[in-house]
Amino acid sequence: MSDAMREAYDVAAPAWRAGPARLYARLAAALVDGLDLAGAAVLDAGAGTGVAGDAARRAGAARVVAVDLAPAILQRPPVLAVAADLARLPFADGSFDVALAAFSLGHLTDPVPVLSALRRVASVLAASAFAQGWTHPAKDVVGQVLAAHGYRPPDWYVAFKAGSERRIGDPDRLAALVSAGGYGSVAVDRVEVATGLADPADLVAWRLGMAHHAPFVAGLPPTEREALREEAARLLDGAPPVVVPMIVVRAR
Ligand SMILES: C[S@@+](CC[C@H](N)C(=O)[O-])C[C@H]1O[C@@H](n2cnc3c(N)ncnc32)[C@H](O)[C@@H]1O
Repeated sequence: MSDAMREAYDVAAPAWRAGPARLYARLAAALVDGLDLAGAAVLDAGAGTGVAGDAARRAGAARVVAVDLAPAILQRPPVLAVAADLARLPFADGSFDVALAAFSLGHLTDPVPVLSALRRVASVLAASAFAQGWTHPAKDVVGQVLAAHGYRPPDWYVAFKAGSERRIGDPDRLAALVSAGGYGSVAVDRVEVATGLADPADLVAWRLGMAHHAPFVAGLPPTEREALREEAARLLDGAPPVVVPMIVVRAR
C-alpha cells in the first residue's frame, strides 16, 4: 500500500468510525455468517476499525488479532492490534485458525504474496470484496457535491479504482488469485447484503468518512463542512437503502 493510502486511512480514522464503520459492520456480519468460529483464533487482516474481528467474536471466536498498516484506524483493546504490512506478518506459522480479509485484498498491488502469508498463519481464509460495478446514488451525489467544493480524487485512489480493486471484484479473477496463493479448495459466492443504511445523514457520513474523501473534508473550514453535509443530505432525501452485492471467498 502506498504511503499516501496509509496516511489517508490514518487521517480518516475518526470520520470512518462515525460513518463507514456502520456499513462495514453489516458486511462483516455477512462475511462470517456460516463460518464455524466457536473457540477459534482469528486474524483480522487489514482490520481497519476491526468490525470483522468484532463479528468473529460475536460468532464465538476465542481470540482475535487485528492487523493493519494504518495505526490510527486500528481498534484498541479488547482486541490485540498490530500495525504491520499483511505481506510481512509477524506471526509464527499456524498461529490462527481463520484469517478474515474484509475488503482489504483490493488494496494490494500484488495480492498473491499476501494470500500466501495469510495461508502460512491460518489454514482457513474468508475474504470479501465489492462486486465489480456496484454503486448507490449516494456515491454520485456526494461525489458531485464534493467536486463543487474543490475536491479532486487523490492519485492513490484513482490507481486503486482502475487496477487492484477491479481485479478483486471479479469472482473468477479473485478465485484464481486465491488459488495462486496456495489454497487447495476455493469457493466464491456473491451475496446481497441489505445494510439498513438509508437515512440521508447516514448516507452522507458513509461517503464523507471514506479514506479518499475524509482528509479533504477534514481540511475544510467547519462552516463549509457543515454546509456540504446539509447540501448532500438534502439531495439524498428519498434515496433507496444501501444493498451491497458482495463477493465472498472461502478457502482452505
Ligand atoms: C476498505 S478498508 C477495510 C477495513 C475493515 N476490514 C472493514 O471491513 O471495515 C481496508 C483496510 O486495509 C488496510 N490495508 C491495506 N493494505 C494493507 C496492507 N498491505 N497491510 C495491512 N493493512 C492494509 C487499510 O489500511 C484499511 O484499513
